[in-house]
Amino acid sequence: MIDIRPLIVKLGGSVITDKRRQFTVKRTVLRRLARELTAAKGSLVLVHGGGSFGHPVASKYKIAEGYGNPRQLIGFALTHRAMEKLNAYVVDALQQAGVPAVAMQPSACAVVENGRIKSMELTPLRKLLKLGLVPVLYGDAVPDLGKGMSILSGDQLVAQLACELGAKRVILGVDVDGVYTVNPKTNKNAKLVQEISLSNWSSVKKRLSSGVGGRDVTGGMAKKVRELLALAERGVEAEIVNAAKPNILRRAILGEVGLGTRVVAR
Ligand code: IPE
Repeated sequence: MIDIRPLIVKLGGSVITDKRRQFTVKRTVLRRLARELTAAKGSLVLVHGGGSFGHPVASKYKIAEGYGNPRQLIGFALTHRAMEKLNAYVVDALQQAGVPAVAMQPSACAVVENGRIKSMELTPLRKLLKLGLVPVLYGDAVPDLGKGMSILSGDQLVAQLACELGAKRVILGVDVDGVYTVNPKTNKNAKLVQEISLSNWSSVKKRLSSGVGGRDVTGGMAKKVRELLALAERGVEAEIVNAAKPNILRRAILGEVGLGTRVVAR
């Protein structure tokens, strides 16, 4: 029987989409990443972010702020549809690379309250993994038991799946080399932080307040690290790597560590 303790990989929205142009996929990058993902030998779960598909629509209709106005309903539907479209590109690219990828809709299996997952129905996903298929999930507009509607980030999804499935390892692919002391895109004195743990997080976080990665509806790099630290506390190590650079994701999948920023418990 196949070991279903999976490797969980997230492709950040800024890696696979052009953030400056709405609804634009970086097709060549996506094709390359699909090939790199074939390096995964055991069970694999893939999650992707929203980039220029989910974020602009969610932000226009203030979906992350919760339900307050019937005009948001069409916004919720459009956000979900934008994510389905991006998901179709990702699944197509994976299938073309020979990966048996299957789309899974997070809003249909996650129970969310005030932006946090309370529970998730993972029986079908576990079965897919046992068969050797590769579920592909994404950040999504979700019904919310507390505030009516919210945005579930791909990062929170990764942390939840990793805990529930007892993941071997988590790899987050972003478009910078990892977590920097200040924004590397605007400050040339930025230094890469090689390891973040509970003991150095408060000092790293203070310097991050200048906004590494910019603003998006789900909170940028600091929020990403917080999700991963909670995961590290439960025994799953994660690494944030630069998936925009060829072969970095492949090497991380093959087990190399130290390619970006590791998030560990110690
Ligand atoms: C956001 O998911 C999904 C929506 C806006 C609907 P993420 O927060 O994981 O997306 P990226 O990786 O930052 O683009």
